[in-house]
Amino acid sequence: MNTNLNDKSDEFLMEPDRQLHFINTCKQLIFDKKAGLGRNLTYCVVTFGCQMNSHDSEKLKGILDEIGYEETENEDADLIIYNTCTIRENANLKLYGHLGHLKNLKQKNPEMIVCLCGCMMQEPHVIETIKSKYRFVDIVFGTHNLYKFAELVYTFLSTGKPVIEILEKNDLIVEALPKKRKYSFKSGINIMFGCNNFCTYCIVPYVRGREKSRKPEEIIAEAEALARVGVKEIMLLGQNVNSYDGGISFPELLRRVCKVDGIKRIRFMTSHPKDLSDELIEVMASEAKVCKHLHLPVQSGSTEILTKMNRRYTKESYLELVDKIKKAMPDISLTTDIIVGFPGETEKDFEDTLDIVKKVGYDQAYTFIYSKRTGTPAAAMDNQVPDEVIKERFPRLLKAVNENNHIDRYKGQVKEVLVEEINVQDNSLMTGRTEESLTVHFKGDADLIGQFVNVRLDECKGFYFMGTRI
Ligand code: SAH
Ligand code: SF4
Ligand code: F3S
Repeated sequence: MNTNLNDKSDEFLMEPDRQLHFINTCKQLIFDKKAGLGRNLTYCVVTFGCQMNSHDSEKLKGILDEIGYEETENEDADLIIYNTCTIRENANLKLYGHLGHLKNLKQKNPEMIVCLCGCMMQEPHVIETIKSKYRFVDIVFGTHNLYKFAELVYTFLSTGKPVIEILEKNDLIVEALPKKRKYSFKSGINIMFGCNNFCTYCIVPYVRGREKSRKPEEIIAEAEALARVGVKEIMLLGQNVNSYDGGISFPELLRRVCKVDGIKRIRFMTSHPKDLSDELIEVMASEAKVCKHLHLPVQSGSTEILTKMNRRYTKESYLELVDKIKKAMPDISLTTDIIVGFPGETEKDFEDTLDIVKKVGYDQAYTFIYSKRTGTPAAAMDNQVPDEVIKERFPRLLKAVNENNHIDRYKGQVKEVLVEEINVQDNSLMTGRTEESLTVHFKGDADLIGQFVNVRLDECKGFYFMGTRI
């Protein structure tokens, strides 16, 4: 193969053709490498963080499958990728823990290629640490150039030198690259990237850049293609789907996605309360395919703290919004995110959080201890809350969440469940989800996976149900 010729021709190619070209080039190199070694080459992708990152990992796996690697769950693979998250300090520490083990593995397998990507790589201090302490890392890229993965692999394979490429921003949205889905029956679809909200505690706008929305035609075409291969449930993904702007609004996009034959359930994640419109409530209430579940992160119940967080709503306006939603959809399931210990949070502020939890009655709440993120406005705020105070508040919050969820209101109801997997603890049970995203375990066999079945919710066990198929 003449790689020089390839090098020249790729200069004139536009995305995604340029990447498809590198996928083909790598495929040839990997074919030769496998023939030389007389064995297959494996890859492992380890994902930290949110749905956005999991979806990005599906894109990386799609490219690696095309190139000719085989997936394994083992971290001693021939190519390993850590797709990182930096939302809280402990997400960061996890990566360094994994890298600590990897040095030995790499010494045992000289073929091993170590790749790092994702949100953490967009932080300059992390890149400095990797360059100085983890020299065995081969390929590093960020959130703005994930689509270039094949090109970076090619550069590494052809030079043998570490490749580090981090972009500060990128307005390009590259469509039509391969993806490998974890489930055959459900899938995420990106509708937008980045975030413009700059909540003062949050690092996402710094590591994911400004909002950019995909075109509605591209989103619909992806949903149609997924439906054709048997996908029944889709999750529209964005940091704040309510500010989607692809020439049409998010509610209008939802209406259009509902028209796609074969797609039976539509979810979306995440909704910022400040932008949740009456039109969205109307579409949710009237379109049967839109799941009656809303994840509506409140973060705090104190208006003062919400102002310091730059959330741009108050305790009262959030509660009014919840009332409006419940009026339009009495059966809706609401879930949320809450942060404990934001700088300056007093006992009174915290009690407002307990009060909002009581008033809303969330079916599930993801509770986080505030984590200081370098470069965010909150990191420089006075009155950081001492650890002892947070340790005292956190269990009180968990207790309030447990005592005020009304999840047992579903007990005795028959719900349509999309069957997802064999129960890990007891393989005579299957595990699935209702449209409210409630987890249900019931007796059944593996050929039900990917199907909708009716299940009676017999017993409520905290945040999940035991049920019977009927
Ligand atoms: N875009 C989503 C949230 C993405 S991050 C939204 O605005 O709803 C997921 C959750 O992590 C946030 O809702 C918040 O509760 C939590 N989080 C973000 N930054 C944090 C920090 N510095 N410390 C603790 N929790 C944080
Ligand atoms: Fe972070 Fe706020 Fe953006 Fe969510 S909306 S990603 S919490 S800045
Ligand atoms: Fe983490 Fe990045 Fe998601 S910081 S939560 S993986 S957007």
